Amino acid sequence: MGKKIFSGVQPTGNLHLGNYLGAIKNFVKLNNDTANECIFCVVDLHAITVKQDPKELKKNIRETVATFIASGIDPKKSIIFNQSGVAAHSEGAWILSCVARMGWLNRMTQFKEKAGKDKEKASIGLYSYPILMAADILLYDATHVPVGDDQKQHLELCRDIAQKFNNDFGVVDFLKVPEPLIQKEFSRIMSLKDGSKKMSKSELSDLSRINLTDDKDQIINKIKKAKTDPLSMPKSINELEGRPEAQNLLGIFANLSNLTLETSIERFASNNFSDFKKELSALLVNKIVPISEEIKKLLKDQSYLDSTLLEGVEKADKIASKKIKNIKEIVGF
Ligand code: AMP
Ligand code: TRP
Repeated sequence: MGKKIFSGVQPTGNLHLGNYLGAIKNFVKLNNDTANECIFCVVDLHAITVKQDPKELKKNIRETVATFIASGIDPKKSIIFNQSGVAAHSEGAWILSCVARMGWLNRMTQFKEKAGKDKEKASIGLYSYPILMAADILLYDATHVPVGDDQKQHLELCRDIAQKFNNDFGVVDFLKVPEPLIQKEFSRIMSLKDGSKKMSKSELSDLSRINLTDDKDQIINKIKKAKTDPLSMPKSINELEGRPEAQNLLGIFANLSNLTLETSIERFASNNFSDFKKELSALLVNKIVPISEEIKKLLKDQSYLDSTLLEGVEKADKIASKKIKNIKEIVGF
């Protein structure tokens, strides 16, 4: 049976290789299976949990849509829309925030990371962010949610919220409890400058990530400068122990070429890092440059991107407004 897929990406600029390998590549695979119904959301309400420049935000929303399409998501097959266009997300988030418990949210590690040392100064939205994410998913009765490894905890919270709502109101199976779809291997791509840190949009150094808009020279240069260690290439998985940078680069190679880590290690066992890096950059250039060029082309056609979003909003709103109507009735409004 086909799956009902929902996932979201924040329009906060610099979509990178981590987003692609951790999430978007999987979106494309799910989109291509005709049995699935897929909804991919540009989560602009989530983006404003940290300060955004309004002009930049608008640009980033279009860029995220362009990235989805350039990566291979077909807007005729899947719904692509922006979250703020469908009012039910905000309404649902409020109602679910009265179901979720403080204790549950207090355990969320992403909030702790993003809020940093001065939690008092973080926005309330940053704290309640996972509840909005739960509303996103539950409004569409999604059965499966493809995300990178860092979103696992938020999905568990979403499942808890759905179950508590169903229990509290005695509505068996009304909110569907979704399954996460997280790749088993290489589900977390690390920074090119520090193998212990996640590759991220917000990292100051652009050399820490491959952006999906990078050109050939940028990709080659970033891989050339990527951190490695003084040891030679590993000959077995055991030899990767304590070598996060080598592990990350080999993981990227394996993921992009659909090989196992073992096979990738074997292939480069007798090489030095610079030979491996040459092959890795060639592979990256092959995969990323066509996407990068297509993004740039699509960005020139703003009216196409805007009308794609508008069509998506209309389709999504039809589904979500029905669900929120039922939620309100159940709650007693
Ligand atoms: P975000 O940009 O935070 O909205 O993330 C969009 C998607 O990309 C989510 O499914 C994340 O889990 C995934 N993602 C973000 N960064 C990484 C990373 N470094 N490695 C793997 N997946 C990632
Ligand atoms: N929180 C997710 C992230 O930062 C984005 C997101 C928002 C999402 N709503 C969602 C992902 C619903 C999956 C389903 O990556």
